Amino acid sequence: MNILLASAELAPLAKAGGMADVAAYLPEEWQKSGHKAIVILPKYYDIDIHSYGFRPTHLVLNVPMGDWTEHGSLWQGTIPGTDVPVYLIENDDYFTRHGIYGDPKEFEDNDKRFIFFCRAIFEAAKALNFKPDIIHAHDYHTAFTMPMLRSWYKNDPFFADTAGVYTIHNLAYQGWFKPEKAMEYSSFGMEEFYAGSWFEHRGTVNAMKIGIMFADKITTVSPTYAGEIRTSYFSEGMQDVLNQRGSDLIGILNGVDYDTWNPEKDDFLYSKYSPDYIQGKLENKRKFLEGHGLNESDNLDLPLVGIVSRLTEQKGIDILMHKLEAFIAENKIRFVLLGNGDTMYEDYFRYLRWKYPGRALVHLGYNTELSHRIIACSDFFLLPSRFEPCGLTQMYALKYGTIPIVRRTGGLADTVREYRSDAQTGNGFDFINYNANDMAYAINRALGIYNKAPHWDQIRLNAMSEDYSAARSAAEYLKVFAWALEEK
Ligand code: ADP
Ligand code: GLC
Repeated sequence: MNILLASAELAPLAKAGGMADVAAYLPEEWQKSGHKAIVILPKYYDIDIHSYGFRPTHLVLNVPMGDWTEHGSLWQGTIPGTDVPVYLIENDDYFTRHGIYGDPKEFEDNDKRFIFFCRAIFEAAKALNFKPDIIHAHDYHTAFTMPMLRSWYKNDPFFADTAGVYTIHNLAYQGWFKPEKAMEYSSFGMEEFYAGSWFEHRGTVNAMKIGIMFADKITTVSPTYAGEIRTSYFSEGMQDVLNQRGSDLIGILNGVDYDTWNPEKDDFLYSKYSPDYIQGKLENKRKFLEGHGLNESDNLDLPLVGIVSRLTEQKGIDILMHKLEAFIAENKIRFVLLGNGDTMYEDYFRYLRWKYPGRALVHLGYNTELSHRIIACSDFFLLPSRFEPCGLTQMYALKYGTIPIVRRTGGLADTVREYRSDAQTGNGFDFINYNANDMAYAINRALGIYNKAPHWDQIRLNAMSEDYSAARSAAEYLKVFAWALEEK
């Protein structure tokens, strides 16, 4: 199969969250199983094209928008460490600025930027003579490829046999656009925008809905989230749309690139380790704490509870704020955080850092090396998410023998199972209701087995032997692609 993966993020070139990781490992796995995959991404200003070895192709794209034509040029390279081709679409007006989406406020012209990107993807495929069997679009930024394929490009012999598959990573970000502008930029025109049309949702143009309605098949990133989003609590207003397309929607659990996230191979660690050499994990913890100026007199054995996360409402920081300080103040845990996001949450963690030096180790910002180190050196990894489409970090934590404490929702429910000390089964701790007391109870259960034989070794072995491989996940997508082509 020829697969064109269209995404606004791709690790390590341009990453805001887990979608970037997924967009990188899927095509690599498809290539390994004999398929041809390419990735198309905007050429953002912050991508270090020289160190990643990107070169101009000298191909110029004419991109129809509204009743005019815009231009783009194409750069080529590969996903670092693989031979998967990546093409970057260059356009100074849209992409020569810092950031991917705009932070903290989204760029006002994201409608125009991403509609341009969607249209340019088709022109790029033609210029490259890459005839896709599948266009695989990810989240709202590339959603407009789905109606473009259905409406115009299906009449172009080049795309006549192409099917569109749309993957939902996070329904919280839908791309609500002003109708007049979005309908003009996308060239569909206001006549396609009316109450109940596939372009309309509650009076706006909603890119997420458009992706869902026009795709041949729709996937989301865990089986549990696929079920949850058909209900109003999780659907962010999309339940009717999702139920309408229910028979074409399935959940495929994300996977882990175990070449990158593996304590046996991880060059970011102070010391590599494996299930047979779990002492190596403790060495990482000690070195990390010593790096923060701590020593034996600071009780280095205190359980270390870590978080690596975007700091948004999704991630459950609200309920954490009710209980975390007490755990630290009572000396039950040492806490380490790497994250950035909403000011309100950042301020809270600044406060903890100020009040509990040496016990609340808070790093506000984005740092890949530190993310690996924290996941490796923590004893427990906390993810009390309000909702979690999949979540990758709990799967990374498991591989590093770092015990997840999670809310049982979305992909967290599909990957973390409560440890049962009678049977010595399970790999973590969970709670069901979005409630600070229930979370605290789960943390206390987890702390109850810390350093207690035989449970502490057993749970870490259970965790490290989980296998959420990217290959399995990628193979599931191939089945959906075949299904999309069959029913097209
Ligand atoms: P989401 O996509 O909702 O943010 P995921 O768990 O799917 O959640 O993916 C988050 C990804 O981003 C992981 O690869 C994680 O290691 C990384 N990450 C999150 N915050 C940071 C940070 N502050 N610094 C470095 N990496 C981070
Ligand atoms: C989204 C979700 C996260 C998921 C990631 C990759 O950002 O918030 O749960 O793991 O996409 O699919």
